[in-house]
Amino acid sequence: MIKNTFTLKSLKSKCLTGKLSVPADKSISIRALLISSICFGNTRISNLLESEDVKNTLNCLKKIGVKILKKGSRFEVFGQGGFFDDPQEKLFLGNSGTGLRLLIGLLSTRNVNVNFTGDESLSSRPMMRIVEPLERMNVLIKHNNGCLPIKLESNNDSSIPIKYSLEIGSAQVKSAILLASLNLNGTTILKEKIPSRDHTEVLLKYLGANIKKKENVITLKSPNFLKPKDIFVPGDFSSAAFLIVAALITKQSKIILKNVGLNFFRTGLLEVLKKMNASINIFNKKIINGEIVGDILAESSNLISTQVNSNLAPRLIDEFPILFVAASYASGKSTFKGLEELKFKESDRLETMAIALKDAGVELGLKKNSLEVVGNKTQRGGNYVVTKSDHRIAMSMLTFGLAAEKSITIDDSSMIKTSFPKFKEIFNSLNANISNVSK
Ligand code: S3P
Repeated sequence: MIKNTFTLKSLKSKCLTGKLSVPADKSISIRALLISSICFGNTRISNLLESEDVKNTLNCLKKIGVKILKKGSRFEVFGQGGFFDDPQEKLFLGNSGTGLRLLIGLLSTRNVNVNFTGDESLSSRPMMRIVEPLERMNVLIKHNNGCLPIKLESNNDSSIPIKYSLEIGSAQVKSAILLASLNLNGTTILKEKIPSRDHTEVLLKYLGANIKKKENVITLKSPNFLKPKDIFVPGDFSSAAFLIVAALITKQSKIILKNVGLNFFRTGLLEVLKKMNASINIFNKKIINGEIVGDILAESSNLISTQVNSNLAPRLIDEFPILFVAASYASGKSTFKGLEELKFKESDRLETMAIALKDAGVELGLKKNSLEVVGNKTQRGGNYVVTKSDHRIAMSMLTFGLAAEKSITIDDSSMIKTSFPKFKEIFNSLNANISNVSK
C-alpha cells in the first residue's frame, strides 16, 4: 500500500542548474552539541542542522539538565563542565546511531543513571561494539542482547582509561570511547585499523583537549577541561553527494554547492567519482574550526565504471547507496568490495539497494560483502521502492529516477527529515522533478 502523504516520486529531469548551500553536517552538529555540553561556559553554534536526528540529541541533553537556547539563527549551549542530572524519563534517540552511541560514551563516565531507547531501526542495530570497550573501562552498562534498551549506572568514578585496537572502521565506536575517556585519570590509546571520520578528534582539539594522532594511533591524555569557542557547522558532504550525482547523471547540468565540509575521511566519493570521469571541481577551500570547507562545482559527465576496495569503505560509508546509483549510469562493470558495514546501517543497505536497483532494471551481481553493478547510459526505472524506512535509500533512489526512462516512486519519504530537511524543495529549486504522490 502506498502511504499517501509521505510518498514521493522522481521523474526524468535535465539541466539541473543553480548555486546553493546544502543542509549542515549531521555528524558535526551532534558532536558540537554533545561536546559543548561538557565545556566550562557557553558555546555558540552557527548553522546547526535542525533535522530529526540532531533534535533528538538536543532534547536528550535538555533532559539531563543542559540549558540550550536558540538565539536568532544560532544555538547557545550552557556548558556545565560535565555535570549532568539523572533524567526523569528514558532518553529517546529516534533513528540516530550517532546520537545514541556518542551520548552513551559521553555519559558513561559521568556518574549518572540513564535509560536509552530508540525507534524500531535503532533498536535492532548492534551495540556490543561500544558496550565491549566501555565494559573494559569498568563502565556499568546493561543491554538487551547487544541491542537497545540500554541502561547506564553510576559506578562512582571507578572507570579507567584503556589501550584499544579498533577492529572495525567506525567513527561512532572511536568517538564513544574518546568521549568516555575525557574526564578519566590517565592516557587512552586507540589504534585504528582503517581510519574513519575524525570530527570528534578535530573538535576536541579545537576546544583544547590534549589529543594527538600519529599515523593510526590516537592518544588522549585526561582529564580535559574544555573551553568554549564559537563553532560553525559546515554543509554536509553526505547530503551534497545526492546533488553531485544528480548533476553528473542528468543532461546539461551544472550546479555549485557552497560551504560543504570536505573532511578527508568523508570525501572518498569525490576520489572515486573523479576516477569515473566525473566533472567535479573544488574551490574556495578554507579551514573553519579545524574542518576543511569548500565549494563544489559538478557538471553532467560521461561516467565510466570503477573498482572500490575495502580500505576506502570508511571514507565513503554513507555514500555507497548513491555511488551505486552513479555506477548504474556509468559505462562498464563496477565492483565494490568491503561492504559488510552497510548491513548495520539504518537498514541493510546492501540488500535494500540491490533489490531497488534490480527492480529498476539495473544488472547486478550481489555477493556476501561485495556488489557488481553493470552500468548503462539509460536505465528503465518505473519501480516502487521499498526504502525500509532508510533516509539514504529514499534519497538515492529518488536521485536515480531523475535520469531513468520511467519514474521512481518510494514507499515512504518521512525519514528523509532525519538528515536532509527540505530535500524535495532543494532539488526542485535546481530544476529537478520530484513531486508528492497522491492516491
Ligand atoms: C557516523 C559514523 C558512521 C556513519 C554515520 C555517522 C558518525 O557510522 O555511517 O552515518 O557521525 O560518527 P559508523 O561509525 O558506525 O561507521
